[in-house]
Amino acid sequence: MSDKINKDSIDRNVMNDEDMVEIHSELNREKHPPTKGFLVAPLIFVFMFGCLIFVCSIQLAHSTNSFQIHPPQDVVELSDEEKELQKIEKKVRTGKKIFSIRCASCHQVNGLGIPNQYPPLDGSEWVAADPELIINVILKGLKGEILVKGEKYGTSAAVNMAAVPINDREIANVATYVRQAWGNDFPEVNEDLVATVREETSAQQDQWVGDALQSLYLNNSAN
Ligand code: HEC
Repeated sequence: MSDKINKDSIDRNVMNDEDMVEIHSELNREKHPPTKGFLVAPLIFVFMFGCLIFVCSIQLAHSTNSFQIHPPQDVVELSDEEKELQKIEKKVRTGKKIFSIRCASCHQVNGLGIPNQYPPLDGSEWVAADPELIINVILKGLKGEILVKGEKYGTSAAVNMAAVPINDREIANVATYVRQAWGNDFPEVNEDLVATVREETSAQQDQWVGDALQSLYLNNSAN
């Protein structure tokens, strides 16, 4: 501030007119520094930056399909055959798990059983027969002498198969697995068929006796 201003007079809060005019003109000069030509450059930058953001967003909107982070996948239409195949593969996969928990302890993971004790399922004519047979065996269990691949089993009453308490779907899955595992290659087993067999045999409490099932389903092949 100008030296001309009488500091005492400011301190004392009394200011004569001259001082007042002087002080205002002084402040006025300080407030408005020269701005000519100053604003244009930043304005151009702001404008260019705005354009850049605009162009980028259009580009981004295009490349992300309207800003969707996970754009919908193209739906691949499976043919009926492929769907059926996938269904069976899933059945076999779950059936394999059920087998390892419910059956493998006796019939073994390789399906070969244990000689003179547990009959094989791999290559067994009992597995190859009408699917109702294996459903019946799982539903009720089996005892008594039977013939599998030319060998006798069930000759001792102590070694028999108890009913396996699993639901219709689990029976369909495990039976499908057994019919398609190892060297076996037989059609899948339907859950509906399991339900039908369960219904038909609902009154039966006892295990199946080998002879009975054999004469029902294996008349041609077993003997
Ligand atoms: C406790 C041991 C044991 C378990 C567990 C067991 N089985 Fe058996 N299974 C046997 C015996 C023993 C026989 C033969 C019974 C007889 O001789 O009358 C048999 C017979 C069979 C037969 C008919 C004969 C053959 O070899 O084809 C089939 C099919 C069968 N079992 C499937 C299964 C399936 C599937 C499971 C699992 C869901 C299972 N078993 C669980 C012991 C068992």
